[in-house]
Amino acid sequence: MKNSRRDFFKQVAALPIAAQVALAYGDESKLRDEVEETTLIRKGRRSVFNMSGYAAPAIPKLRVGYIGLGPRGLASLKRTAMFEDVEIRAIADCYEYPIQQARDFFKSINYPAPAEYFKSEETWKDLVARDDLDLIFVTTPQYWHAEMACAAMEAGKHVACEVPLCYTLEECWRLVETSERTRKHCAMLENCCYDFFEATTGNMARQGVFGEIVYGEGAYIHYFTTAQVFAEPQPPLSKKAGMHRHAVACTVKGNRYPTHGFGPVCVAMNVGAGDRPDYLTSTETDDFVRAREFAEILKEGRDYHKQFAGKEFSGNMNLSTIRTVNGKAILIKYDRMSPQPYSRSYVLSGLKGFVQKYPDPARIYLNGETPATEEEMKAIEEQYAPELIKYLRENALKFGGHGGMDFVCEYRLIDSLRNGLPLDLTVYDGATWSAVIPLSLWSATRRSQPIDFPDFTGGNWKTNKPLDLSLRGGGSTKVKAPTETAK
Ligand SMILES: NC(=O)c1ccc[n+]([C@@H]2O[C@H](COP(=O)([O-])OP(=O)(O)OC[C@H]3O[C@@H](n4cnc5c(N)ncnc54)[C@H](O)[C@@H]3O)[C@@H](O)[C@H]2O)c1
Repeated sequence: MKNSRRDFFKQVAALPIAAQVALAYGDESKLRDEVEETTLIRKGRRSVFNMSGYAAPAIPKLRVGYIGLGPRGLASLKRTAMFEDVEIRAIADCYEYPIQQARDFFKSINYPAPAEYFKSEETWKDLVARDDLDLIFVTTPQYWHAEMACAAMEAGKHVACEVPLCYTLEECWRLVETSERTRKHCAMLENCCYDFFEATTGNMARQGVFGEIVYGEGAYIHYFTTAQVFAEPQPPLSKKAGMHRHAVACTVKGNRYPTHGFGPVCVAMNVGAGDRPDYLTSTETDDFVRAREFAEILKEGRDYHKQFAGKEFSGNMNLSTIRTVNGKAILIKYDRMSPQPYSRSYVLSGLKGFVQKYPDPARIYLNGETPATEEEMKAIEEQYAPELIKYLRENALKFGGHGGMDFVCEYRLIDSLRNGLPLDLTVYDGATWSAVIPLSLWSATRRSQPIDFPDFTGGNWKTNKPLDLSLRGGGSTKVKAPTETAK
């Protein structure tokens, strides 16, 4: 039994990453085994180079490429086009329709037309091979992230990758190892770390305003009906666009989208900089919705839906609890199918204060059970909003992206690379926050047994510095006046 599993993993290790993930999609038990094998292979691994705190050489004129121009890629590209001393030189998608949309946008703002790559699902490799790019945005569906990001780093480019960074532990490790070996950054675009409220309260947490934080909570609770999730993408969209990634995600158990909830809480609790996740346990309810409703959809017999036939769907709610080596606890909730209001939860419970973002309105408690008044909230914001947020607020509101946090996230990354500063979010953060995906699957399908959390930093978490959202050495990137089209 053990041998055949080893053999299987030897074969799998030889496959390209996307093929490994595709395999894992099809077989939940293989994905579970992968967690154990990968953990064994990497046990005790030390870092070969610490990417946290690493200032790569400054790139004053930053040349950028984009792979994947769905809603996320296109919106990001429009904001990036507004930064001075940044040139979008090349764009790729596997379909021409999204490329055409980008083409129209560039024309409308008189922007030099970037090179285009759109012949097939493999054409992105030609973009990666160009020798005139410094940074590549990977904004494709999640199962492509690791392969594209690793290829880009191997080709000498920094990477900005959408969330989650990847799906499997093997992918997490490959990304970490590739980043350390090539000394190219691989930043996951966890925009929620730059939400004004999360950024401000995170800053307060690091200044000790809430005292020792002993418990944190994050979530991705976002209700989608079964009809929405399995809506067949209509031409000119690709068969893999739109809700397709949600449909794929709900065919495997575990928390499939943990980073919006886990990331900001880790940042506030200095997880990765003085503390680290020790182990995780995960519990998942049964599926009380999808299988029953999907069976009705399948009766219509459309080809698109047949790829999901026979799949066991994930449960309504997944609850994953992480205990840290410093004895703190973090709860991450995940539910995309029970009717309830959107929530990232975002709770910080300290010895001197308490924060809760959802449900609206967000509240801060510095006085026992009495929340801060509206007036006090304004004063708190004035005192504790990080310098970065104060500096960018106006432009962030103008250019938007989830209320402006997307703009701040992209600005910060680009400005740091241009000025040769260490990045806020490193490959270790992306790997750690995404690792909840395979670990929660493992535990939730093993009667909630605990599983050790890998230390992707190779021991450097003890000395890595906490997030600092000041403008020290940065903030020099200018923003062009917005055009109607770019907003
Ligand atoms: N940070 C956030 O708030 C947030 C919000 C939504 C989505 N996301 C993430 O952003 C990513 C993209 O989301 P989306 O909604 O734009 O997805 P989408 O599926 O609508 O678009 C992805 C695009 O990538 C293209 N693509 C697919 N395979 C490709 C390949 N091999 N080569 C080149 N192009 C390829 C598709 O044709 C499509 O245009 C996902 O990873 C998602 O998880 C993040």
